[in-house]
Amino acid sequence: MPSQKSPFAPIPPGSSEHYSDAAYYTKTYAGRLEDVAYYVDLAVQLGGEVLEYGTGNGRIALPIARHGIPVTGIDASRPMLDDFRERLAKEPAEVQTRITLREGDMRTTKLRKKFPVVLCTFNTILHLYTHEDLAAFFARVQAHLAPGGRFVVDLSTPSLADLAHDPDPTRERKMPRFRHPRLGLVRYGERFAYDFMTQIFRVTMRTTPENGAPEEIVELTQRQFFPQEFRHYLQTAGFEIVHTDGSFTSAPPDDFSEVLIFHAKRKTKQFSDPALRRDETKK
Ligand SMILES: C[S@@+](CC[C@H](N)C(=O)[O-])C[C@H]1O[C@@H](n2cnc3c(N)ncnc32)[C@H](O)[C@@H]1O
Repeated sequence: MPSQKSPFAPIPPGSSEHYSDAAYYTKTYAGRLEDVAYYVDLAVQLGGEVLEYGTGNGRIALPIARHGIPVTGIDASRPMLDDFRERLAKEPAEVQTRITLREGDMRTTKLRKKFPVVLCTFNTILHLYTHEDLAAFFARVQAHLAPGGRFVVDLSTPSLADLAHDPDPTRERKMPRFRHPRLGLVRYGERFAYDFMTQIFRVTMRTTPENGAPEEIVELTQRQFFPQEFRHYLQTAGFEIVHTDGSFTSAPPDDFSEVLIFHAKRKTKQFSDPALRRDETKK
């Protein structure tokens, strides 16, 4: 059978390199606990089966499953999913049965199932760079969202100071030495570059092992969305925003919000013409 070609650009290095070393990812984000608590509470409160886009190595999905809720996780990174499976193998049998993993692109993966809760966590949405990427993904969410279901997506807000960083490679931001799970003691530095027209922020991370092994350079690219722009994307993709949090402690959004968490549901048809509205109610 001829292979089906995806109409989308392949997943770029900036969406995959940072996720190629799951042990390093786990160490880097070990202290990030507020979003885990937020999503566990939300899943317990909403109570239905969860579909998580960008499930990674289960940082959020696993704690949700431990609370008795089945989770289907989609991710494009095989190293992250392999690590998730290894972690899952150490869990009690009932937790293992609650997790279903699928390797795939969030823009195209089709599941023959609908979910009352669809999550897109920890900036995964920032790996969708173009209007076409977003439209394709939101169409997938619409297709997988059960009637009356909730779609929740979080994203970091653009930091104007970060976007204004000088991309000059000699201006690397040096970080304290640390012990890397694979490379031992390392020196580490980051460079930042923001492309004005595409609104893509590029972080170039350079890790230099102290033992003389070759340095590693990894890129992370994230689309930047300004709050009103993202609202507009959701609304034009057929979602109604029911609630927005400005932190994982559920504070309302304000000028200092470093994250926005949008809660949306499928928009119900609305007609501005009263005659049309009457026709619709007759059906
Ligand atoms: C910041 S991580 C979040 C992982 C996990 N949810 C967590 O909170 O730790 C973003 C994830 O999105 C995945 N990803 C990036 N682009 C993707 C795409 N087009 N389709 C599916 N997954 C993608 C990456 O592989 C990565 O695991």
